[in-house]
Amino acid sequence: MWTAASRRQFLATACLTSTSLGGLGRLLGQVPSPQVRDDQKKFKPDTLFLTWQQDPTTTMTIQWIGKKRDAGDATILYRDRGKGEEWIIGPTAKTTPFPVVETTSLAPQPGADWGEPDPAAKRPLSKYTGPTDLTIFRAELTKLTPGTEYEFTIGLNAPTWRFRTMPAKATKAFHFISGGDAGVGPSAVANNRVAAGQDPMFVLIAGDLGYDNGVNGDTALQFIRNYSSTMIDSAGRLIPLVTCLGNHEVRGGYGKTLKEATFFTPLFGGLYSETGYATLDFGDYLSLVLLDSGHCSPIGGEQTAWLEKVFKERAGKPHVIAVTHVPCYPSYRVPEGKGDKFGTGEEQRKYWCPLFEKYGVDLVLEHHDHTFKRTRPLTGGLVDEATGITYLGDGSWGKLRIPKTPEMRSYLEEVSINYHITLHRLEGEQEFHLAFGETGKVLDVFRTVKKPRHHKPDLSK
Ligand SMILES: [Fe+2]
Ligand SMILES: [Fe+2]
Repeated sequence: MWTAASRRQFLATACLTSTSLGGLGRLLGQVPSPQVRDDQKKFKPDTLFLTWQQDPTTTMTIQWIGKKRDAGDATILYRDRGKGEEWIIGPTAKTTPFPVVETTSLAPQPGADWGEPDPAAKRPLSKYTGPTDLTIFRAELTKLTPGTEYEFTIGLNAPTWRFRTMPAKATKAFHFISGGDAGVGPSAVANNRVAAGQDPMFVLIAGDLGYDNGVNGDTALQFIRNYSSTMIDSAGRLIPLVTCLGNHEVRGGYGKTLKEATFFTPLFGGLYSETGYATLDFGDYLSLVLLDSGHCSPIGGEQTAWLEKVFKERAGKPHVIAVTHVPCYPSYRVPEGKGDKFGTGEEQRKYWCPLFEKYGVDLVLEHHDHTFKRTRPLTGGLVDEATGITYLGDGSWGKLRIPKTPEMRSYLEEVSINYHITLHRLEGEQEFHLAFGETGKVLDVFRTVKKPRHHKPDLSK
């Protein structure tokens, strides 16, 4: 009987050079051809990217979008680059059809807030065409060693790619890039290149990824293609992508369900399987609390109860960062509501900001307004230099508006009209945040120090 170990040994012997892993019988019949170079291998999906569903110190999720027949065998083979030649047979990618949007469903729904109109969504319905024969492939590698470089391939007719697992402990070298509101235009791609140039451990794009509006499959694909082709670090490693929901992922924008996040849900549903919000815990040193600012989950109620629970559970963690697409403290849109309609961020200020303050999150990353913004440290909307929370971002990875000024809104500290991304570096109890413009110029440098977490949660409740 073939055990996993003996299969591994066989593959090591065969140098992984047959053309299919579609069954041991076929494997045994293949003739090794170790001379095949990576550049001669045929299967090179232009949408390959990495993401996570679980702890990034020990797992990695490999995804791509393509035609089933092109992939051939979708089994992942991987190995520790520093430990000899033995390859490990990983999982075979699971498949989900890439959604096909019926042309008749493109009309905006009455009362829906579409934000900025997407030209594709405005096309005459009969002229819309999108991809119809594509499949999303997903394979998760688990039980990996933290802080280790791996290489992997897909089946036996693909080149090898590289990645690294996140370190077991935060080190001075731990850094990542965040931003929001990318799109698929030249500025978004320019900022992809600036981001990759920082050799980040991963990238977080917090909503409004490609602006597919839940209807435009071509746009959803182009966003992934752009990411795949540009997000490679100077050592040749693929840079994993973490996302959260924005209004432009969802058909209708707000008050919908994950079903209306037509492309986001099948692409990123490994993390967001049941709700539009999730946490991603990096070992015991960093937690990203990824929120849904009213797109597929209401802000109050269950999500707010969940938020308090996850903050309580992470009370002793060194770095806890909350992430929301719609900003609590907008730099452009109007924060005050009219009549019974909430202003931008108003509902979040009511339900979430008191929890950010109570549990002393290190930082809130937020976007949607298409500017560069850093608020003053705030408690209850007022400046609190000692223990206030800073809200950073405002989403101009590839979209731009003219922000209001600090004179107009007293909670603003820095604003500018710049496409930007931000580099975050964790150093002990400090976090450094450097904003870069699309040409790589540093726009802002800011430091946060771990909050005293002065409101110790009552764990007896
Ligand atoms: Fe946006
Ligand atoms: Fe948005």
